[in-house]
Amino acid sequence: MTPDGKQAEFDRHAATYDGGLDNPVKRLLGSSPDQFIAVKARWLLRREPALRPGPGPGPVAEPGRGKLALLDYGCGAGDLMRVLAALGARADFTGCDVSTGMLAEAGRRWPAGLGPAPAFAAQDGALAPFADGQFDIVTISAVLHHVPVAERPSVYRELGRLLKPGGRLYAFEHNPRNPLVRYVVARTPIDENAILLDAREIRHGLLDTARYELDTDYLMFMPPGIAPLRPIDRALAWLPLGAQYVVAARKGAQ
Ligand SMILES: C[S@@+](CC[C@H](N)C(=O)[O-])C[C@H]1O[C@@H](n2cnc3c(N)ncnc32)[C@H](O)[C@@H]1O
Repeated sequence: MTPDGKQAEFDRHAATYDGGLDNPVKRLLGSSPDQFIAVKARWLLRREPALRPGPGPGPVAEPGRGKLALLDYGCGAGDLMRVLAALGARADFTGCDVSTGMLAEAGRRWPAGLGPAPAFAAQDGALAPFADGQFDIVTISAVLHHVPVAERPSVYRELGRLLKPGGRLYAFEHNPRNPLVRYVVARTPIDENAILLDAREIRHGLLDTARYELDTDYLMFMPPGIAPLRPIDRALAWLPLGAQYVVAARKGAQ
């Protein structure tokens, strides 16, 4: 499929995008798309102390503490940044996507009281209109399985270009080793052209384009809406069977 075809594919899903919750099995595991996104947002807040809220309610700045520049690449309807901000994350948020329909939806979904809306920009295929090394943190969540396999190396190259030396990339993906994930993806309309990939593919793809220190965590062993089960999820992060995984990559300082 051409990049324009991808844009049209996702423009079509933009207004109703609900993170695949139109699938009845996924609805059994969580009642709102934000519950699934919040698993990733809480993981990011644990991993990146500088994103955490300062003292007091909401995203209050401590004197002298600068905000990190965070890009969500393939941000879709902006849900990851919105949930991060709702949890109090402090960052200058930017989102980009190949689908201008998704970007428009992201602008619409950002609540007025949540602080400044992210800056949004359209991608030209894999390319995003930002300077080399512009971001401290780049996230890419549930995107790579939509990128045709032959185009993934250009995405990995672009992610590395956008990161500062020492910057961190977090790639969240559906885990193809989890049978329930494969069942749900095969029956979810937005995933009709999805080709799932495992953590090893991402790690190798990244290392082909830049120097990184890499590690991987597995997420979402338990239904995301049940807070008392969260410690089990954390204890199992090493086990490659969670519904999601995240490849964490720190770019070499050069
Ligand atoms: C399933 S949505 C995920 C959206 C968001 N990241 C999230 O976690 O909710 C996949 C997104 O990837 C975008 N996408 C597809 N192909 C892409 C590509 N080659 N580069 C960047 N974004 C792409 C789509 O436009 C869509 O918004």
